[in-house]
Amino acid sequence: MSSKELLNYDHIVIGSGLAGLFTAVQLSKLGTVAVITKRGVDESNTKYAQGGIACVMDKEDSFREHVKDTMIAGDHLCKEDVVMTIVENGPAAVNELIELGAHFTTRGEMGHSDDGKDYDLGREGGHNKRRVLHAGDITGEEVEKILINTCRSNRNITFFEYHIAIDLVTTSRLGWLGEDSVLGAYVLDIKKNLVKAFTSLSVTVATGGAGKVYLYSSNPDIACGDGVAMCYRAHVPIANMEFFQFHPTILYHPTVKSFLISEAVRGEGAILKRHDARGNLVEFMDRYHEMKSLAPRDIVARAIDNELKRSGQNCAFLDIRHKSEEFLKLRFPNIFEKCLEVGINMAKDPIPVVPAAHYCCGGVKTDINGFTGINGLYAVGEVASTGLHGANRLASNSLLEALVVAKLAAKDIKSKIKVLSDTRASGKIPTWRSGNATNSDEQVVLTHNWDEIRRFMWDYVGIFRTNKRLERAKNRIKNIRREIEKYYWDFLITQDLVELRNIASVAEIIIDSAMNRKESRGLHFNADYPQREPEMDYVDTVIQQPYT
Ligand code: FAD
Ligand code: SIN
Repeated sequence: MSSKELLNYDHIVIGSGLAGLFTAVQLSKLGTVAVITKRGVDESNTKYAQGGIACVMDKEDSFREHVKDTMIAGDHLCKEDVVMTIVENGPAAVNELIELGAHFTTRGEMGHSDDGKDYDLGREGGHNKRRVLHAGDITGEEVEKILINTCRSNRNITFFEYHIAIDLVTTSRLGWLGEDSVLGAYVLDIKKNLVKAFTSLSVTVATGGAGKVYLYSSNPDIACGDGVAMCYRAHVPIANMEFFQFHPTILYHPTVKSFLISEAVRGEGAILKRHDARGNLVEFMDRYHEMKSLAPRDIVARAIDNELKRSGQNCAFLDIRHKSEEFLKLRFPNIFEKCLEVGINMAKDPIPVVPAAHYCCGGVKTDINGFTGINGLYAVGEVASTGLHGANRLASNSLLEALVVAKLAAKDIKSKIKVLSDTRASGKIPTWRSGNATNSDEQVVLTHNWDEIRRFMWDYVGIFRTNKRLERAKNRIKNIRREIEKYYWDFLITQDLVELRNIASVAEIIIDSAMNRKESRGLHFNADYPQREPEMDYVDTVIQQPYT
């Protein structure tokens, strides 16, 4: 496959979740924007966000307290200046979203007898205050819908749906001398089976997370870590990938996969329980943390894992039966309905739950503006590691980060536009060439490797790690990656192949990062080094493909 198709835009954004769409809205003030997205425009992690956006909107709350809760959850790895900037810029960014038409649930709508204008703020794990703005329990769907409409009605923004970015094109990749700059990206048009070359002044990678690297995950299929893998191949440093967050409460059911029971349910008083020897449901989080069921996520997920392994039970239970059916339907309409579909009435039945991979706290290392260090190349949203989350993300801080950093990235790009224009003027990128590659003969190689990676990552690089488990995982991933790289160069490119290659690369980065960190901290627990080492406070794990 080769292609003569070359497309020019002032700016490229890869991904159409909250980070990509909000960045596109900001960049459209500077010029034309191509939003490249590998499925339909609304398919993203963002679409499934339930709890909401953490933001200081209440006079009883303060920036200082939000910063403090974020830093505590992050277990001595957050960058305080980054945390402060994101928290302090939160209200302005959220208000911009509201001006675009986003609606968040008010206290009046929840039946409280105030003036009906104040927002109904939810609470989640690790937050000492109610500060989570929500649109019922479908916050992500609400913000995604508003931003898609905003982009669709903006003449400067063009969507390229079912287009998957394969790789970034940088000056170093083309063998140019001087400072490394991004020139564009190679993109597979999935429906036409054609590789296109996009050129631009800036490229913003907003490809979201990598939950699909694990067998059980709350994430939709798009979450393959594409952005991390592409940036790694482009020699951008990748930080703190050992910190993969497992959400404690995914619905445990044989036919429903990946359905989240929001932490906001615990925020409204739900208690985590398990069966004791007599078959009674008993609380257990009181033995693990003073905040009990509302402790930070790393602690809750590990506690559930421990309880289940010790007792041999399949799941824990979330008990909110003390709340009325009327309240639960009003506050959690989506969760209530989904549970009811499978015969669980939240007001009468405890909800069976298990932990699953949820959020990638590490990622492409950037500064507070999403800048990667390569001229013109930015990473925003879950794909990035700005320093906000540290070793464990505080609930509902990711949508906040995506909003704030999208604005800062666009501002930074604006300030550098002259330099970026000069680089683009100095050369063209070649169109894609496939050499002698042929159609794949054995699709089973892809499915087999995909399944194998996800299973050993779950078994060996999950909530509870040991040196031996990590070594086993490392041996397997080395072989699989060798096989995939050969396959990649021999056969014509397909979406499955691009995603498998990326997930394998991300798996290896997670394993290497976990092996490098010889302590336990936040989400990374290694039984061979069970303590947090004070000399590792605020020390990132950084993995970078060297320039040769
Ligand atoms: P995404 O929303 O995942 O968007 C990524 C986009 O990139 C998608 O459009 C995808 O198709 C596209 N893409 C990926 N690779 C490529 C490629 N190679 N080429 C082209 N396109 C590509 N966070 C909160 O703060 N509050 C919550 O309440 C909350 N609830 C959550 C509930 C669930 C079930 C899940 C899964 C996550 C939740 N999170 C929550 C986390 C949060 O939703 C995500 O971190 C956030 O939405 C990420 O936004 P994003 O724009 O960075 O990525
Ligand atoms: C949830 O609603 O529990 C998810 C919140 C988050 O991941 O931030």
